[in-house]
Amino acid sequence: MKIDFQKFLTHLGNSGLEKFAADIAPGIENYFVNLKHGDLAKWFAAIEALPAVDGLAIDLSSDTVGIGSAGDVDAKLRPEIIENLMKLHPWRKGPFELFGIKIDTEWRSDLKWQRLIGCIKPLAGKTVLDVGCGNGYHCLRMLGAGATAVVGIDPMLLFVTQFQLLNKYVQTDMASVLPLGIDEMPVDAHCFDAVFSMGVLYHRKDAAEHIERLKGALKSGGELVLETLVIESDGEEMLVPEGRYGKMRNVWNIPSPALLKKWVEAAGFVNARIIDITKTTTKEQRSTEWMHYESLPDYLDKQNENLTIEGHPAPIRAIMLAEKP
Ligand SMILES: C[S@@+](CC[C@H](N)C(=O)[O-])C[C@H]1O[C@@H](n2cnc3c(N)ncnc32)[C@H](O)[C@@H]1O
Repeated sequence: MKIDFQKFLTHLGNSGLEKFAADIAPGIENYFVNLKHGDLAKWFAAIEALPAVDGLAIDLSSDTVGIGSAGDVDAKLRPEIIENLMKLHPWRKGPFELFGIKIDTEWRSDLKWQRLIGCIKPLAGKTVLDVGCGNGYHCLRMLGAGATAVVGIDPMLLFVTQFQLLNKYVQTDMASVLPLGIDEMPVDAHCFDAVFSMGVLYHRKDAAEHIERLKGALKSGGELVLETLVIESDGEEMLVPEGRYGKMRNVWNIPSPALLKKWVEAAGFVNARIIDITKTTTKEQRSTEWMHYESLPDYLDKQNENLTIEGHPAPIRAIMLAEKP
């Protein structure tokens, strides 16, 4: 059982990314060779069971990514469509609206997009790598902003499969979510106009190595968009949570904004600047009908919402932009 990425790889080849496409092709092929994922057959069956409708109106430029409208399918099919969508629970990144059904995801990913889209270099005509892209919500918004090729990578097969579900209707070969982590990327591809790493750095044991890899993916003159958890401090310091952070097990580093800038400059980027610092609120991250598990309200101290349940500072996120000389 495998996902066929050939048309997407061909599109990359036609977009000036032929060497990159050739370099990643074996890794994608190998990924599926010995794959034994208990849920994949169920997910594929759910996608297959969704009605086949071509030529839908697609809106990639609004906060809610829109796919078709209620009138495109028989109203009687609605419960069955919802049931099949729920087979790919949890829906973490979005929101989406499919045939008028609002997928109210755990994250209002549109809020992060709004914080950065007016500050980054225009994406029109650009090639983009989105590292740790989840189900590709932002990849689709990048297409909506005019990017010509968007490579999303995420090691979580559920998110890769959610993109396949959405793309049953979006029907684009210009963007995809590949089942790869950053360690499977070519080290010095030097081929993307923009590289995004959002919500990934704090999961990496070696922050400097992560930033080096992001730089290696960029062309000279390309832009880095780096979003991560930070601590509030004017100094160059970092929180290394012992044990969990907001119930997350694999959080290794939470730098101050000044330290983050120092790391990015040490990697050789120029014009590094923070364009936004925002405290994550329960408006942006919460459990919903489409994500039944615990979420931010359960990760915070009930007596003091400025602290996580473990007593660390509550999540604050910064977006840093920088250029590769
Ligand atoms: C907090 S989510 C952020 C998703 C999205 N970028 C956003 O900002 O909304 C982090 C994502 O990074 C992915 N991830 C974790 N380790 C990764 C790695 N080594 N390479 C690429 N992605 C990774 C996770 O599976 C997850 O989907």
